[in-house]
Amino acid sequence: MTAEATASVAQSARRTIHPAWVRITHWINAVAIIMMIGSGWQIYNASPLFAFEFDKSITLGDWLAGALLWHFAAMWLFVVNGLVYVVLGVLTGRFRRKLLPIRPGEVVADLRAALTGRLSHDDLSIYNAVQKLLYLGVIIAGVIIVLSGLSIWKPVQLQELTALFGGYDAARYVHFFAMTAIVGFLLIHVIMAFVVPKSLRAMIIGR
Ligand code: HEM
Ligand code: HEM
Repeated sequence: MTAEATASVAQSARRTIHPAWVRITHWINAVAIIMMIGSGWQIYNASPLFAFEFDKSITLGDWLAGALLWHFAAMWLFVVNGLVYVVLGVLTGRFRRKLLPIRPGEVVADLRAALTGRLSHDDLSIYNAVQKLLYLGVIIAGVIIVLSGLSIWKPVQLQELTALFGGYDAARYVHFFAMTAIVGFLLIHVIMAFVVPKSLRAMIIGR
C-alpha cells in the first residue's frame, strides 16, 4: 500500500465511531429483542404474574402456543447475535475502552448535567458516565434474561441453573423483571437517539 493509501485508511478508521460489527449486531439485536418482548408479553397473558395483562395489539404470536414458537425462534437470533457482540466487545477491548471505568461521582455529575441540558454530545466516540452505566447495565440484563430464560425453559435438564435463581417460580420473576429493565432502558435509549440524531446516524453508517 502507498503511504497515501495507508494514511487514508488510518484516517477513515479514526473517523469511524462504530465499526461494522457493532452496527450489524446492534440492529439485529433491536429486531430480535422486539420479537422477544412481544412474544414474552403474549406468554405472560396466558398466566399473568400480576393483576394486569398486556394489550393484544402490542403482543406477538396471537396465543400461547404461537407466542412460544416466536419466543423460541427469536431466542436463537438473540443469543447467537448477543454472543458475537459480547465476545468481540471483550476481545477487541471495546468494552474496556468505551464502557469502563464507571465512577459514581461522574455518573451523578453527568446525570445532573444531562437533566439541565448542559451535557456535551460533541464527541460521539466517548460515552459519558450515564451512557456507560446504561449500556453496561443492559448488557448485564441481557445475560440475566438469557440465564433465567434457560432455567424456565429447561428446569429439569438445567436444574442447577434454576436452583441458582431460587427455583422455577423465582426464575420466572427474575425473567420478568429483567424484561422490565430492558424495556425501561429501551424507552430512554430510543428517546435519546432521536434527541441526538447524529448518534443515530453514527449507529447506522458508522460516523
Ligand atoms: C435465551 C433466551 C430466552 C429464553 C430461553 C426464554 C424462555 C422463556 C420461557 C420458557 C418462557 C415461558 C415461561 C412460562 O411458561 O411462564 C418465557 C417467558 C417470557 N419471556 Fe423469555 N426467554 C428468553 C429471552 C427473553 C427476552 C430477551 C425477553 C424480553 C426482553 C423475554 C421476555 C419474556 C417475557 C416477558 C415472558 C413472560 C413472563 C412470564 O409470565 O413468565 N425473554 N421466556
Ligand atoms: C430500536 C431502537 C433502537 C435505536 C433507535 C437505537 C439507537 C442507538 C444509537 C443511536 C446508539 C449510539 C448511541 C450513542 O452514541 O450513545 C446505540 C447504541 C447502543 N444501543 Fe441501541 N438502539 C435501539 C435499540 C437497542 C436495544 C434493543 C438495545 C439492547 C437491549 C440497545 C443497546 C445499545 C447498546 C448496548 C449500545 C452501545 C453499543 C456500543 O457502543 O457497543 N439498543 N443505540
